[in-house]
Amino acid sequence: MVSNGNPGRSAMAKLKIGIIISTTRAARFGDRPAKWIKDMASRRENLEVEILDLRDYPMPFFDEVASNASVPSQNEVAQRWQKKVAEFDGYIFVTAEYNRGVPAVLKNALDYAYPEWNKKPAAFIGYGSVGAARAIEQLRLVAVELQMAPTRTGVHIQGADFLAAWKGGKEIAKLTYLQQNANDMLDQLVWWASALSAARERSPVSAIL
Ligand SMILES: Cc1cc2nc3c(=O)[nH]c(=O)nc-3n(C[C@H](O)[C@H](O)[C@H](O)COP(=O)(O)O)c2cc1C
Repeated sequence: MVSNGNPGRSAMAKLKIGIIISTTRAARFGDRPAKWIKDMASRRENLEVEILDLRDYPMPFFDEVASNASVPSQNEVAQRWQKKVAEFDGYIFVTAEYNRGVPAVLKNALDYAYPEWNKKPAAFIGYGSVGAARAIEQLRLVAVELQMAPTRTGVHIQGADFLAAWKGGKEIAKLTYLQQNANDMLDQLVWWASALSAARERSPVSAIL
């Protein structure tokens, strides 16, 4: 059995949520929505929230003999990444859309772990012309293979609102309709994180199941 390093938390413990900034280029926009959702999520007493920046985990394009579902990874940054991912009960992916797809650096980071993602929820915040809706739909499929539970509701910063925030410097918090969306998404994330944390505590994760 391959352990995911997080056996679930006792009923009173706070749920740990990792917010993953999914692009790494110098001029990226992703820091702003990540900070916005971190501020919102941190106001919930039952959550402990941390931003994970893929710039801090510069992994090569996948270069191991197999997924770490079956063979431990050799690359030291990958090992550090897997250890970090294992700490959390759920994740919020803050993502762009590159050519209607998932940014490659994010897909690579997803591929570099397996048991660490298993039996945990994934929520998504996208930005772009259609709020990265197409990339997020692809991510939901990837999440299923990683044995994650993707939330129904996502947050999409899109169209003129994205341009106003990206080029015009408009504060995301001023896009008030996003608040309800984000609250719904956080409610769903908390429900799944809590349910799956209890389930992991009862029965440890096996990479095979
Ligand atoms: C390589 C590349 C491809 C892009 N493709 C899309 C796209 O398919 N859909 C979209 O809405 N925006 C697209 N854009 C514009 C991005 O939405 C915008 O540049 C955004 O800021 C990128 O995210 P980042 O700042 O986190 O890198 C693309 C940008 C780049 C650099």
